[in-house]
Amino acid sequence: MDGSKVMVLPEGFRKLEPARRRNLLHEILFGESAAKGTTHEDFLSTGRDESLIELASLMVESSIGYAPIPLGIAHGFLIDGIHHEFPMATEEPSVIAAASYAARIIAKCGGFITSATDPVMVSQIFLEAVDEGGIARIRASVQLIMQEVQPFLGSLPARGGGFREMAVARLPETGLVRVDLLVDVRDAMGANILNSVAEGICPLIESISGGRRLMCILSNAATERRGRAGCVIPFDTLERISGSGFTGAEIARRISLATDLANEDPSRAVTHNKGVMNGISALALATFNDCRSIEAAAHAWAARSGSYRSLTSWKVDGRTLVGELELPLSFGAVGGAAAFHPASRLALRMLGNPGAMELARMAAALGLAQNFAALLALVTGGIQRGHMRYHAPRIAYQAGARGAEIESIASAMTALRNFSHSEAEILLANLRAGLALE
Ligand code: MEV
Repeated sequence: MDGSKVMVLPEGFRKLEPARRRNLLHEILFGESAAKGTTHEDFLSTGRDESLIELASLMVESSIGYAPIPLGIAHGFLIDGIHHEFPMATEEPSVIAAASYAARIIAKCGGFITSATDPVMVSQIFLEAVDEGGIARIRASVQLIMQEVQPFLGSLPARGGGFREMAVARLPETGLVRVDLLVDVRDAMGANILNSVAEGICPLIESISGGRRLMCILSNAATERRGRAGCVIPFDTLERISGSGFTGAEIARRISLATDLANEDPSRAVTHNKGVMNGISALALATFNDCRSIEAAAHAWAARSGSYRSLTSWKVDGRTLVGELELPLSFGAVGGAAAFHPASRLALRMLGNPGAMELARMAAALGLAQNFAALLALVTGGIQRGHMRYHAPRIAYQAGARGAEIESIASAMTALRNFSHSEAEILLANLRAGLALE
């Protein structure tokens, strides 16, 4: 890295008006073009739309625009007998194609059967200096705590949610006492409610226990709030779609062995689960849900046995391959950025304005589809051919192709199985000179 080129912003940058912040940033990064009164293309890509710039400034501090991640639709999901299309925001070219491919296959086999647990999340209070008598007094005060927590729950009880139960435990290493308040947050992701609950009720719990608060915060683990999806794929279908020369039974055996492998070897499980999250995170991003929370919970869930394992299971049953995925999914359909940003509202509308539990069920189906597509490719023809086919248009673009040229160059690269930048440049030169590409 060239230290002289590292950007340094003036003191107080964050306090400037959003438009001034943008102008200043443009001057710093692209002094020359700014001086000539032209706006650099890279800069424009983060702020062509004034209303989105304004929204960004309401959502994050020191905003300078927005990052336009591609948004696409994965087609053809059949979930519990109902047709679904999924908006997905992702930078990875093959993700949506893979989801649609798997969805179509699984739809022909009857689709996904899904379920979700109630949207119960945990609000946590961590206390110091609580003796055993203090723990007993907190436990004995559950009715009082339940009553006093009501004002912090807002309209949740009226919507069927609210306080469910309390658990108190001493943590063996630090000696801290953890008070878990389980709250059904209905269609919200719930972070704000849960943090208000913990902070609001903490003084009462301190006075009951004689302890001192270290911190109050929700747990993102969301282990109580899970989505589940399953599907059954006959051997005949596997054989017909793969074109690999393997029998259906052999493909099923190999996919099942691939799950055993991920269960055995954490270094493989990380990649396996990353593939599952390709779908789930893209849906989270499209709906402006908290991807970090969903990802962290998924990976913690994958490690719940003490070793990091596969999130999915694929097993042979008779002449079928049976897939299952169950994981914590703290998707919200209202509140937070989900209902605030117009792009999120659009995505939710495409999904039929689902509630949080329906979103969790859809996300589980999407994750399982994504995993099926990845494993099918990996254990038959390999992943790279398909991946490169989707990367080819980008390489063509980077080599200078525009408009219809991109598809011509990408097709020629795929036919030649040469995806180098230099090959794209040669093909582009030939195309523009009117020469044949293959
Ligand atoms: C790529 O984004 C995802 C995969 O690596 C997943 C997997 O290996 O199972 C293909």
